[in-house]
Amino acid sequence: MQDIVINQPKKLVISETALNLLLEQIDQSNAQNVFVLTDPHVADKIKPVFNGLTSKSIRVFYHLSTGAEPSFSDFDQIILAARAAKTDFVVGVGGGSVLDIAKLVAALTNATEPISNYVGNGLIKSRNISLVCVPTTSGAGSESSPNAILIDDSDNSKKGIIDAVLMPDGVYIDPTLIASLPPSITAYTGLDALTHCIEAFANKFAHPVVDVYALEGIKLISQNLGKAIANGNDLEARKKVALGAYYGGMCLGPVNTAAVHALAYPLGTKFKIAHGLSNALLLPFVLEYNLEAAESRYAQISLAMGGEALDSDRETALQGIALIRKLIRECGMPSRLSELEIQLKDVDQMAADAMLIQRLLKNNVREVQHGDAVTIYQNAY
Ligand SMILES: [Fe+2]
Repeated sequence: MQDIVINQPKKLVISETALNLLLEQIDQSNAQNVFVLTDPHVADKIKPVFNGLTSKSIRVFYHLSTGAEPSFSDFDQIILAARAAKTDFVVGVGGGSVLDIAKLVAALTNATEPISNYVGNGLIKSRNISLVCVPTTSGAGSESSPNAILIDDSDNSKKGIIDAVLMPDGVYIDPTLIASLPPSITAYTGLDALTHCIEAFANKFAHPVVDVYALEGIKLISQNLGKAIANGNDLEARKKVALGAYYGGMCLGPVNTAAVHALAYPLGTKFKIAHGLSNALLLPFVLEYNLEAAESRYAQISLAMGGEALDSDRETALQGIALIRKLIRECGMPSRLSELEIQLKDVDQMAADAMLIQRLLKNNVREVQHGDAVTIYQNAY
């Protein structure tokens, strides 16, 4: 068994009253200037909540995020606002991009170096500002991972900043905040979370501890995502998908994702396709490519999704891939690259861009070369 380090938030709350407990945590802290980074679509819901703070010496500063796929320069603007507010407590309320930035703001408010200097593993080292995450989507798993992903403006590629100090102190999941998420975003984000679990479970560096989170996440998401899409106000389904996404995030630190994410990245950076949709478009095709190297693992995934044990691991695994295709169909999303603004001639450059994501490709159960990536994209077209 290889060495492993797992960090977890100190507190996890999954409840319709989660935000009341968050206010208690802030009230009981020594915070004076709380910086709330949030998505515009939840800002109106969040602001009245913070009026419930009883300590009158606490000031709350709201900052609206710039939307999906934030860049280094977006971060530079936000950190200036956080410093101007003399921030000593950061709350991120939003999807994965908002939470990633909130994590970095908390860790780098007192830093002197540019954000680009922290790209990589373990370069931040310390955080002395409290950090709380309130996820309003169930996908990225940022709330339970030590990762933050931003686009580097200099080469338009996604860069990962990974550090234990980016793990929040508290995670507060309120299903009523997630209930208003439209079906399409519920589907994209849920399939992203499912992909985290699948890629961590069938991974060159898979680990027994992470396997537990990954398989449970696969179960929770595959059995409840359809319900959350059909009825956004099904709070039990919302909680279960949120917990599945949280488990997916737990997989990202110690094991991380692999070729699905590596091949999905160019779809986001070049064509601005949502991260979850990018993954869903490629997921079955990468699994088919990987199958010969991971039949037993994929068979276990199939069983976790509710499949039957068939005569061989291969047959059971193929059934699992069919179940994933069925789930994607049920989510009502595109299933082919040709349904988007992508031309077949773009595939070669996409493969070249994907080859740069070696930090994830090295995790893949089967080696992926440029030509293999081209074939996978062509199959998915
Ligand atoms: Fe992802």
